[in-house]
Amino acid sequence: MKICHVVGARPNFMKAAPVLRAFRRYHTVEQVVVHTGQHYDFNMSDVFFQQLEMAPPDVNLQVGSGSHAQQTAQIMARFEFTVLERRPDLVLVYGDVNSTVAAALVCTKLGVAVGHVEAGLRSFDRTMPEEINRLLTDQIADLLFTPSEDGSANLAHEGVRPEKIHLVGNVMIDTLVRMLPVARRRLSAELPRRFALVTLHRPSNVDDPAWLCEMLGVLADISHETPVLFPVHPRTRQRLLETRVSPASFSSVQFMDPLPYLEFLALQARATVVITDSGGVQEETTFLGVPCLTVRENTERPVTSTTGTNILVGRSTQKLRIEVEKVLSGHAKIGGVPALWDGHAADRIAATIVGRPAVSSV
Ligand code: UD1
Repeated sequence: MKICHVVGARPNFMKAAPVLRAFRRYHTVEQVVVHTGQHYDFNMSDVFFQQLEMAPPDVNLQVGSGSHAQQTAQIMARFEFTVLERRPDLVLVYGDVNSTVAAALVCTKLGVAVGHVEAGLRSFDRTMPEEINRLLTDQIADLLFTPSEDGSANLAHEGVRPEKIHLVGNVMIDTLVRMLPVARRRLSAELPRRFALVTLHRPSNVDDPAWLCEMLGVLADISHETPVLFPVHPRTRQRLLETRVSPASFSSVQFMDPLPYLEFLALQARATVVITDSGGVQEETTFLGVPCLTVRENTERPVTSTTGTNILVGRSTQKLRIEVEKVLSGHAKIGGVPALWDGHAADRIAATIVGRPAVSSV
């Protein structure tokens, strides 16, 4: 069986890594990795392949940045050629980025089976580009691997046939479980005892200059109580430059370049509180038991707030301040770990696809 994995953006890499490893235990499976090139900076892409011990991609479509239509169209045009040339039996797509929906559409039109890893998540907010990517991908995929019960329920509600839906758990947590001991060894001895870790990159937060400034103001305030570390996503950096918001005006916040996987994981595991709008970070903090304040009105990962440590603070700097205060005064929300977030989701995916568990180890 030939399986083609399509990855393109930073959050895809840690999801695909454990699935690639799981299939290596089946000698009948041949694997091809296609990188669309949606993310192309060294510290948004290559460093993840290195740290996650993934071989360089077999094919790089090198689409780069562009409008949503341009990026999606370019991936489709170039990926179609790859599928026709490589003739996979199954294509696996990951998450909710433009590369995910673009590759899934190509396969459906060519009659090639598609599996969606991390299916069924819904924010019910169609202004988010990722929600459109999720909805469309799930409608056309042949196999849907969900990370949690709510994902399976959403799919059933949308009319997806039950035999296509497989609740397998969270592949991103597979990677976290494997890499956490390595990450902890990388912790810098100079880290402050307490600190807040921040990531913000969603268009809804960073494309609105007034709101971005307001948030930076709050982060600067927080930094007078506890150090604030902020690895800045390229989109956010670009917006700061465009809007002429100088990071120097918020100099008490420690801005830095995007971090590699292990360094960021190490910081998350040690953080006093994480402030974010990322999807994956909500999940990782839930697993780690670290308080997470999500600067969004909704989440497609509700288990992180019903079971985990996540709190949605929405678009309210007041709520953000209050919740940070609670954490710093020792009253953080305590959470648990959702079912099947156990480090073996990828094994379940591979066993489902091949039709039997692996017997040999790599
Ligand atoms: C994408 C995903 C988002 C995911 C995020 C993780 C979509 C619709 N969005 O958002 O779900 O959470 O990745 O990072 O697919 N850029 C660089 N270098 C890079 C990549 C991007 O400088 O390696 C800059 C470019 O100026 C680009 C901008 O960042 O225009 C945005 O990149 P893009 O891939 O379009 O979306 P993200 O905001 O990264």
